[in-house]
Amino acid sequence: MGTILEVKDLHLSFKGVKALSGVSFSVEEGAFFAVIGPNGAGKTSLLNILSGVYSPSRGEVLFQGRPLRGLSPQARARLGLGRTFQGLELFRGMSVLDNVKLGAELALPPYPPLFPRAQVEWRLRAWAEEVLDYLHLSPYRHTPAGMLPYGLQKRVEIARALAGRPRLLLLDEPMAGLSLEEKQDLARFLLDAREEWGITLLWVEHDLRAVLELSDQVLVLSYGEVLYLGGPEGVKKSAKVAEAYLGGAV
Ligand SMILES: Nc1ncnc2c1ncn2[C@@H]1O[C@H](COP(=O)(O)OP(=O)(O)OP(=O)(O)O)[C@@H](O)[C@H]1O
Ligand SMILES: [Mg+2]
Repeated sequence: MGTILEVKDLHLSFKGVKALSGVSFSVEEGAFFAVIGPNGAGKTSLLNILSGVYSPSRGEVLFQGRPLRGLSPQARARLGLGRTFQGLELFRGMSVLDNVKLGAELALPPYPPLFPRAQVEWRLRAWAEEVLDYLHLSPYRHTPAGMLPYGLQKRVEIARALAGRPRLLLLDEPMAGLSLEEKQDLARFLLDAREEWGITLLWVEHDLRAVLELSDQVLVLSYGEVLYLGGPEGVKKSAKVAEAYLGGAV
């Protein structure tokens, strides 16, 4: 087990607003790593840098020892860096199966021109079906994604990301808007995926109870700065964290 992700001294500003300021941390392979913090702390900005949507004004990111600077989100996905979005970004009119196939396709190397397209198609479909089955989504495979209840749409979003065979999966508030039962299902799927497929998880989540129960490392951000980095047991003991969450509401 080594370090899968190394983040060094990240800075990012939007027209003078500091979204991130000197953020450094590393994630061990196989970890369930949480990023928490109040609204506007810079959590989504961090995921956007990691996945290649934004480039930092300073600092660098190493994935499996390799610097990511200059690589597109697609190139990062092919290296094994997957993500889900805070707002759902499914193709609503497309079937669940086709959404998940797209996720699988994104992670493929460009296929050689003579390779029969029908074979690629068949393999993509078989793999997408397997992922759907894993997440108990098979009954909805032909339903347009936008017609599913919100909780299932969130699960399809995760299926699409898993279909890209990520080594590291970035999740932006996967539990937001879910019922307790849906949260329990999701927790089980994520823990199973980590165990069975060896996926490292980095999640941004507001549900503090879930974070402290499931994660083995927690990074707390506030106004773009690191307030705490360590095990879940230390989060509530940190005076800085308590202060950032409205004077001790943690
Ligand atoms: N595209 C953008 N343009 C301008 N400002 C931005 C942009 N994205 C983020 N910001 C600003 O950067 C700061 C961090 O935002 P970010 O979305 O990363 O926070 P967050 O921790 O994900 O918050 P939330 O919990 O509400 O999702 C905020 O002040 C936000 O307004
Ligand atoms: Mg956010």
